[in-house]
Amino acid sequence: MKKVKIAVLVSGGGTNLQALIDAQNSGVITSGKIVCVISSKPGAYALTRAENAGIDAYTVFKKECKDHSEFEEKIEKILIKKGAELIILAGFMSILSADFTKKHENRIINVHPALIPSFCGAGYYGLKVHEAALGYGVKVTGATVHFVNEIPDGGKIIMQKAVRVHDNDTPEKLQKRVMKQAEWKILPASAELVCKKIISGEV
Ligand code: GAR
Repeated sequence: MKKVKIAVLVSGGGTNLQALIDAQNSGVITSGKIVCVISSKPGAYALTRAENAGIDAYTVFKKECKDHSEFEEKIEKILIKKGAELIILAGFMSILSADFTKKHENRIINVHPALIPSFCGAGYYGLKVHEAALGYGVKVTGATVHFVNEIPDGGKIIMQKAVRVHDNDTPEKLQKRVMKQAEWKILPASAELVCKKIISGEV
């Protein structure tokens, strides 16, 4: 059976990458296969997770590239070499250019730790998202998986899951709950859904 070749782009701890690896091993993801992991930061723990799972891991250090286009060209080279057909942004902390997202229309998905259109767009990443949610005083937050286009966090929504905010939450506590209850579930489920749609020609 055809499996969509997946590249996972990361920048940090890689718990979402781990959720994808686990989903692949447990049979939640059957229509795709992770063929490589690319980190924008050297030493990211996500790279160790990839190596432990026997997945080819690469680093493209943004700070060592002369500009953003060189950064994207280096990533593109790896994607071509590995034959990647779907790109998953799993805690990837760089905004991709319109050139790059247009070239990969409906072939890039991202997980965002809030219910888009709340607390999203440029400047809203990682813990900052949860700080903003707590600062606003929302009682419900969550996570969103969406297609990536030229607008940061602006592409079509694939899945969302709501998570309750507790009275004594800190950004760290809320981040953990959102990951556990939402991100680690809807990211693998969305990956499988999109891989199926790619195979059937629906996207
Ligand atoms: C996750 O919460 C992810 O949703 C978020 O960064 C964290 C990465 O954790 N991504 C963004 O904020 C992107 N805008 P991880 O490295 O453990 O998966």
